[in-house]
Amino acid sequence: MIGEDGYFGEGVARRYDESSSDMFLPGIVDTAVDVLEDLAAGGTALELGIGTGRIALPLSQRGVKVRGIDLSRAMVARLHAKPGGGAIDVTIGDFSTTQVPDTFSLVYSVFNTITNLTSQEAQVACFRNVARHLAPGGRFVVEVEVPEIRKLPPGHRIVPLYTSPTQWAFDVYDTATQSMTSNYIEVVDGRGENQSIPFRYVWPSELDLMARLAGLRLFQRWGGWTRHAFTHESTKHVSVYEKAED
Ligand SMILES: C[S@@+](CC[C@H](N)C(=O)[O-])C[C@H]1O[C@@H](n2cnc3c(N)ncnc32)[C@H](O)[C@@H]1O
Repeated sequence: MIGEDGYFGEGVARRYDESSSDMFLPGIVDTAVDVLEDLAAGGTALELGIGTGRIALPLSQRGVKVRGIDLSRAMVARLHAKPGGGAIDVTIGDFSTTQVPDTFSLVYSVFNTITNLTSQEAQVACFRNVARHLAPGGRFVVEVEVPEIRKLPPGHRIVPLYTSPTQWAFDVYDTATQSMTSNYIEVVDGRGENQSIPFRYVWPSELDLMARLAGLRLFQRWGGWTRHAFTHESTKHVSVYEKAED
C-alpha cells in the first residue's frame, strides 16, 4: 500500500540502511562523495530524494552545506536522528515540483532515484525544477542504471533478481511505456508478503534531451563514480549536466 510517505514509509525506512548495506560501504560512499565535493566547487548542494542521508551526511561532513527534498517523513526522521543529521534542512515534498529557497552550485540525484518518477512528464518537470535551483554554472548530477532490457529474452517481460526458498524478487518491464515494477516476495510464517515498487526506466539519451528542454547541457558522463569511461557495456552512468554561466 502506498501512503503519504510514498513507497518509503515506516516499514521500508526502518530497514533501509540495513537492506541497502552494500550501498553504505565506505568504498561506494566515499567515491561518490569525492565526485560530488569536487562538483560542488566550494558552493552549496541540494539532494533530490535525500532519504536517510547515505550521501548527504558524509558530504556535509566534508564541509559542503547540503539541503534535501524528500517525500518520506519516515526516511528523513532517520537522517535527522543521526549525528550531524539535524544540521541538514529537508523540505518534505515531491522533488519534481517542490521549490526551496536559494540556488545551489550542485543538485544531485543518486541511486536510481530519478526513476522513482514514474512518468516522462514528471522526469521532464524534475529537470525544469533542477534548472530553477541551479546557480549559473551549477551542475546537476544523476546516477542511474542503464535499463536492463537486454536481459529480456524476446517476448518476455520479467527479469529475475534473486531466488531462495523463502525470498524471491523480479522486475517486470513494459517496453511500450518504459514503466517497470520491482517485486519482492518473502515467505514469513508460511505466508507470502509482497511488495511492488513502480519505476520509469530512462535512457541516457532521453535524459540528455530532458536536460536540453530545461536549458541544461551534458557536461560529462562516466560509467560510475570512479569516473571511468561510459561504454556499451556500462550498467549504470553518472551524468553531469551544466547550467550556462549568465
Ligand atoms: C532509493 S532511495 C535513495 C535515498 C538516498 N538518496 C540514498 O542514496 O540512499 C529514494 C528516496 O527518494 C525519495 N523519493 C522517491 N520519489 C520521490 C519524489 N517524487 N519526491 C521526493 N522524494 C522522493 C524516497 O522517499 C527515498 O527517500
